[in-house]
Formats: sequence, C-alpha cells, structure tokens
Amino acid sequence: MRTLLVTGGAGFIGSNFIRYMLKHEPDIRIVNLDKLTYAGSLENLKDLPDPERHTFVQGDICDGDLVARLLHEHRVDTIVHFAAESHVDRSILGPGAFVQTNIVGTFTLLEAARAFWLNENPLDGAPVRFHHVSTDEVFGTLGPEDPPFDENTPYAPRSPYAASKASSDHLVRAYFHTYGLPVTITNCSNNYGPYQFPEKLIPLMILNAQEGKPLPVYGDGMQIRDWLYVDDHSEAIRRVLHGGRPGETYTVGGDNQPPNIQIVRTICHILDELQPASPHTPHEKLITHVADRPGHDRRYDIDIAKIRSELGWEPSEKLETGLLKTVRWYLDNPEWVAAIRKQQEYQRWIDANYAKRR
Ligand code: NAD
Ligand code: TYD
Repeated sequence: MRTLLVTGGAGFIGSNFIRYMLKHEPDIRIVNLDKLTYAGSLENLKDLPDPERHTFVQGDICDGDLVARLLHEHRVDTIVHFAAESHVDRSILGPGAFVQTNIVGTFTLLEAARAFWLNENPLDGAPVRFHHVSTDEVFGTLGPEDPPFDENTPYAPRSPYAASKASSDHLVRAYFHTYGLPVTITNCSNNYGPYQFPEKLIPLMILNAQEGKPLPVYGDGMQIRDWLYVDDHSEAIRRVLHGGRPGETYTVGGDNQPPNIQIVRTICHILDELQPASPHTPHEKLITHVADRPGHDRRYDIDIAKIRSELGWEPSEKLETGLLKTVRWYLDNPEWVAAIRKQQEYQRWIDANYAKRR
C-alpha cells in the first residue's frame, strides 16, 4: 500500500479516513476523487496532517476516462471506495442518483481497476487492492430475537439506498471470482463523529437541540442501530488493507445498540450539562415524534467475531465518550456548521423531508 485512490474523500467517513491514514501511515500518498455533491465539502479537508501527501481531484466516479487517467498518472496500487449517495431518506424521495453513483459508479471503478492492474499490469506485480466500503443495511432488518448480522447473512435490502449498495457489493465480489481482481469488502454499521453532514440522526439532533428546534424522532423511536465511532471504522479498514484476505468480506460494528430515542435523550443530557444556561434546557422537551420512514428497518446488530479473530480489530470508543466528543466537536466548530448549512440545497432538503412528516 503506497498510493491510494480514495473515492468520496470529501464526505464524512472518507475525510475522517484520510486524516486518520495520513496520521498513522507515514509512507502513503492519497489521491482523493470526489464530485463534491451536497454531501462533500473541502471544509472537511482543512487542517489535514501532512497535506502535501494528499491530492484532491474534483470529479465523478462514473467518468471512466478520468478514473483511468488518475490510476495511470499516480500509479495507484490501492483503491478505497467510499463515494456514494448515502442517505436513506433521500433514496426514498429520489432513488435515481443512488443507482447511478452507487451501482454504475462502482462498476466504472471496477472496470478501470481491472484494465489497469490486470490487463496492463504496470506495477511489476506489486500487490494491489480494491477495497469497497459498504453497509450493514444490505442485510435488511432484524427481529428482536434474531442473531446479529455476520458475513454469511443473506442479502435482503429494503430501501433504494440499501439495494444500490447491495448491487455494488455483488459487482465487487463478481470481479474477484470472474477476473481475480483482489477485492475486500467491509459491511459496517452506522458511524458517527466529526464532519458528519447534519441530515443524519446524530448531527441533526445536536444542532436542532442547540438552536431550540424540534427533535424529529421517526415513529416510536425504538429502532436500533449499532453505532460506531468513525475513527474505529477507519482503523478497521486499515487492518483489512494490511491483513484482509482478497475476496473476503468483514462485518464491522460498534457493540452499541441503544434505540434511537435513547441516543436523542443522551444528546439532550450532554447539552444540558455543557450549556446549563441555555434557554432550551432541558433539551428533552424538544423531542417530537413525527411520521415514520417508509420501510424503516427496525434493528441492526453486527457480529464482529471474524475481524476480531483474523485481524485483531475491535471498537475502542464507548458510545458515551464518543457522543460527548461528537457534541463538543459540533459546538466547537460553528464556522464548519455555518459553511455546510449555508448551501441552499440543505434548507430545501430539510423542508422536503420534514414538512410532510408533521
Ligand atoms: P457522505 O454522504 O458523507 O459522503 C459521500 C461522498 O461521496 C461525498 O463527499 C460526495 O461528494 C461523494 N460522491 C457522491 N457521489 C459521487 C460521485 N458520483 N463521484 C465522486 N464522488 C461522489 O457518506 P459517508 O457517510 O461518508 O459514507 C461513505 C461510504 O460509507 C458510503 O459508501 C456509505 O455507503 C458507507 N457507509 C456509511 C455509513 C454511515 O453510517 N455513514 C455506514 C456504513 C457504510
Ligand atoms: P440515519 O442517520 O439517517 O441513518 P440510517 O438511516 O442509515 O440508519 O438514521 C438513523 C436512525 O435515526 C434511523 O432509524 C432513522 C432515525 N432518524 C430519526 O428518527 N429522525 C431523523 O430526523 C433522522 C434523520 C433519522
């Protein structure tokens, strides 16, 4: 692993991953290909450690010529593929972009990698890797007593987002079996932490609560996710890049499964403590139950036995400390929040998603 092409590196997890890798891997260079959709921002890439080892390229993963040129120009030996449309609610209101980026975009990258690494083979047989970053949502939903998802759980996606990610996983695996492309896949649970776009549950609730706006909990709020602090996800991917076996999938989770309503209450309590003089204390009074998401997956839970036993990875951040760090980060970074939210598109999305739920 010497030159990485990271796709979607201006988004939430991609930018955290780049920061993490530049810090922990002194010998690598990173080329970051990102279209800068509403979810990507150069604001997420300020203050990188060792920025001269990072090259940003604005462009679309569906542009095969561009991807091929970057692989050649930079002699890329490792692709870490984050770029995606990533928000379930947006996939319900507009699934087309999900099919294009998540399926066609992944296919374009696979084709470029196959042509460059397998057909042209310019790296003199040096090890290469295509790592695909995927989600536990491809497995569908669990009942209260079901065992957690693991690498053998059948795929059963239920949202356009999850279905498009499932398709991309199938393509990635097919390129291993059919062409021998050295791929790995991680299927990870919900991430949280700094730089997450404030349309997702945790940052949305932090910012709404701070401003005294309603906290829109879908349905009864008893849906369960397996929350993972974003740096733990970066470390899991790093371990897979170093020691993961080509063709293998690793499920990655946080061992944190409180219902949504408890996450929202915890955020409220943290804000009560950090901002006791706020006119919105106690913040819990802002909680508002709103109409549920159609097809809402009820419960996710991840078995991490494989990545733990093969690669020695397990989450290091506890939910209480991770949430406290995250709330502090959003309070301490008002310039980032203002820059991200000033896009007109953001307000349009908030209006479109929440007006119909009232
Ligand atoms: P995000 O929405 O914050 O960022 C996505 C990034 O991809 C943005 O910077 C965007 O500009 C870029 N992008 C979108 N379309 C593109 C295109 N056609 N070409 C180039 N760049 C494009 O997403 P995230 O939360 O950081 O998720 C990153 C990856 O991790 C996704 O593949 C997602 O499915 C997966 N994942 C996310 C979570 C989570 O909890 N957020 C959990 C598991 C897996
Ligand atoms: P989200 O952060 O959108 O991630 P995902 O849908 O990929 O799990 O949502 C996390 C959970 O929070 C999910 O069960 C939906 C719920 N949710 C709300 O209750 N209210 C909200 O305003 C949002 C955005 C999400």
